[in-house]
Amino acid sequence: MADSASDLHLLVLAAGKGTRMKARLPKVLHRLNGRRLIDYVLDTAAVLAPRSTTLVVGHQGEDVRAALADRPGLQFAIQEPQLGTGHAVLQARPFLEGRAGTAILLSADVPLLRATTLRRLLEHHRSHEAAATVVTAHLERPYGYGRIVRAADGRLIGIVEERDASPDQRKIKEINSGIYAFDLAPLFDAIERIGADNSQREYYLPDLVAIYRRSGLGVETIVVDDPTEIRGVNSQSELAELGSIVRQTRVAELMAAGVTVEDPATTYVGPDVDVGPDTVLHPNVYLEGRTRIGPACEIHAGSRIVDSTIGEGTVVRNYCVIEGSTLGPRVRVGPFAHLRPESDVHEEAHVGNFVELKKTVLGRGSKANHLAYLGDATIGAGVNVGAGTITCNYDGTTKHPTVIEDGVFVGSDSQLVAPVTIGKGAYVAAGSSITEDVPAGSLAIARSRQVVKDGWVEAHRRRRAGEE
Ligand code: UD1
Ligand code: CA
Repeated sequence: MADSASDLHLLVLAAGKGTRMKARLPKVLHRLNGRRLIDYVLDTAAVLAPRSTTLVVGHQGEDVRAALADRPGLQFAIQEPQLGTGHAVLQARPFLEGRAGTAILLSADVPLLRATTLRRLLEHHRSHEAAATVVTAHLERPYGYGRIVRAADGRLIGIVEERDASPDQRKIKEINSGIYAFDLAPLFDAIERIGADNSQREYYLPDLVAIYRRSGLGVETIVVDDPTEIRGVNSQSELAELGSIVRQTRVAELMAAGVTVEDPATTYVGPDVDVGPDTVLHPNVYLEGRTRIGPACEIHAGSRIVDSTIGEGTVVRNYCVIEGSTLGPRVRVGPFAHLRPESDVHEEAHVGNFVELKKTVLGRGSKANHLAYLGDATIGAGVNVGAGTITCNYDGTTKHPTVIEDGVFVGSDSQLVAPVTIGKGAYVAAGSSITEDVPAGSLAIARSRQVVKDGWVEAHRRRRAGEE
């Protein structure tokens, strides 16, 4: 008994049409700072280690389900048609029927909820042995939310939706977050008793509170201190607003930890980004995904860095795009460099303007300073890659590797036709098309010899004059 009573099941409502988003993409698949709304909710709830997770989907349910194939272990309950939040919870009944324990109910469109709040909710709910516990907040502008109606002595009476509230009830500033804990035992039978006698002709889950109160069952509330964590996304503008709150929060935390941010208003920093102290972020910098930037770096305006790790003292000059890459300490990149995924630039290496790297290792102190494409290449230390060097890594079907060993000098405008290896310390003459391996210490010249015709210009001029 003790065991099953402590069972925890997660229910996530995601069946609503999301009409106010005015988009074809289902609301819960919209991205907030690069992450889907639904992922926020599921990741936060994961700290409770629920025994089961049921998503109630309806509108575009198949799309949502297909998109969530990357998250195994989810159960899907279909709500069709969507007759309100009470009706939505009822659709999960087949999955939870006969189970004891607690159900935590979340809305898929409330992404910023904190794990600590969920833990508090569960703790409060269990220790009070409540039939239901509602998470509430006090809002200066409660418009649009269900209001928490209390008796003069503070006792909870019920929840009334904005549309159904009297002018006096609309003045109430305590709102329903739409997040609850429920004792599973009485839940579904009680939901059956919810009516649709309201302005929307819907079965409102919050009506359960009044039903429980009338039957003498305990309903508890907990209040969140920071109401942003229970804000819902109902429109594109709310999506943008929450995104900006999250980023500005992260920027403020980084500044508090010693990062210099020249213009916080235009610095775009995702919630999972980390930056070391004494690093300077110039305006219009975008740091996204799981990016880690070391201390004492300088990231210049216009650069976008995604899921990358950057070592101490590295400088990224203007307008670079760096994705899924690793840069060592004291590296110089840019301006206008493109580091595509799986590039690994070792310490003190230089990547200059209009240089593109893909799946390429650039060894310690090596330089590719101008106009180059280096793909599927392993480049050793102290290599000089001349301007205009291109690894011809693709034959139309397959990608092939290029190996450039330590200390090689590749002259400008060379093509290295892969698979090919340039041995240690070798020289490649400018303008070469290298199709065969170059042994260590040798010079390879792979271009036609220059022909010089002495006095040709004058002779040519005379010939033309004679013709006239
Ligand atoms: C709901 C609450 C309101 C609360 C607010 C907090 C109700 C009736 N009202 O209002 O008290 O203040 O959340 O954000 O519950 N959904 C379904 N099926 C449906 C209807 C909705 O799955 O038939 C899902 C939606 O996809 C969404 C969640 O339930 O994830 C909430 O629905 P929504 O229509 O956004 O409710 P609100 O009007 O915001
Ligand atoms: Ca909502």
